[in-house]
Amino acid sequence: METETILVTGANGQIGTVLTEELRRRFGTSAVLSTDIRQTGANNILFEELDVLDSARLSALIEKYGVKQIYHLAAILSAKGEKNPKWAWEINMAGLFNILEAARKYGLRVFFPSSIAVFGGMTPRVDTPQHAVLQPETVYGISKVAGENWCQYFHQKYGVDVRSVRYPGIIGYESLPGGGTTDYAVEIFHSAVKGEAYECFLGPDTRLPMMYMPDAIRATLELMEAPSEKIRIRSSYNLAGVSFTPAEVKEEIQKHYPAFEVSYKPDFRQEIASSWPESIDDSYAREHWGWKPQYGLPEMASDMLEHLREYYAASVS
Ligand code: SER
Repeated sequence: METETILVTGANGQIGTVLTEELRRRFGTSAVLSTDIRQTGANNILFEELDVLDSARLSALIEKYGVKQIYHLAAILSAKGEKNPKWAWEINMAGLFNILEAARKYGLRVFFPSSIAVFGGMTPRVDTPQHAVLQPETVYGISKVAGENWCQYFHQKYGVDVRSVRYPGIIGYESLPGGGTTDYAVEIFHSAVKGEAYECFLGPDTRLPMMYMPDAIRATLELMEAPSEKIRIRSSYNLAGVSFTPAEVKEEIQKHYPAFEVSYKPDFRQEIASSWPESIDDSYAREHWGWKPQYGLPEMASDMLEHLREYYAASVS
């Protein structure tokens, strides 16, 4: 094929589902090859199964489809990773390594999602700076710190055009997160719309950096479309949207659903959340490539609730 194809790994995941759709809307369905470990039905058009540990298959797909860019979203998230650290390390690290090697060989542009999980208890928690101590307390965070450094290395040594942001917790109505510490912030909206009470696995005052999906997708595409010389950080950019606690999001939801109830039963994820920042200083992203978030908590909450209402209404009718 002589086209310039964009390959997405982890295309059936929380961000992949939405990003793939947006890429197809912009560049055309046949310009985007969605891949994942297995077909789940989310992305049926132009889909190939791909285990990111299988470098031979990755190369074969790059050659077959004329791939020029990779959005490498396949990864094991923070909470799930703690259940099986060695496996999480293998997928997150060896997977990225295969992508970077392929990018070097075929001259590809790569997007690598890093995370607020790169930070740990040694980092200032409020307005966490770009260049802070990176001493994470989860295997996921360790793999993202190492990944960021490998990205920078491949850029410096081999000129690979790799770009990355440290995503906060991502909240969207189109897809569900799988195995993260910030998942509560999606689940809580689903419970509210279903008319159910929600039991939160973090305490009421746990403030974390979050971002609404449309902002996350826009940040990703703006970063990838920026002229190369503007991307002066090749490890990963701090990125901020909005910060809130479970109690604050509950109050916001109660403006729409006054009877909505939340109880709190912190589990092992509380410790992870307590090691992460409360808010992020993203001034380099703003300065270098013009990042600016659009959604605060009230706008996000009303948009989430409206879309979820439509979704549940359609699924019962
Ligand atoms: N949302 C992710 C997680 O909770 C953080 O990058 O694991």
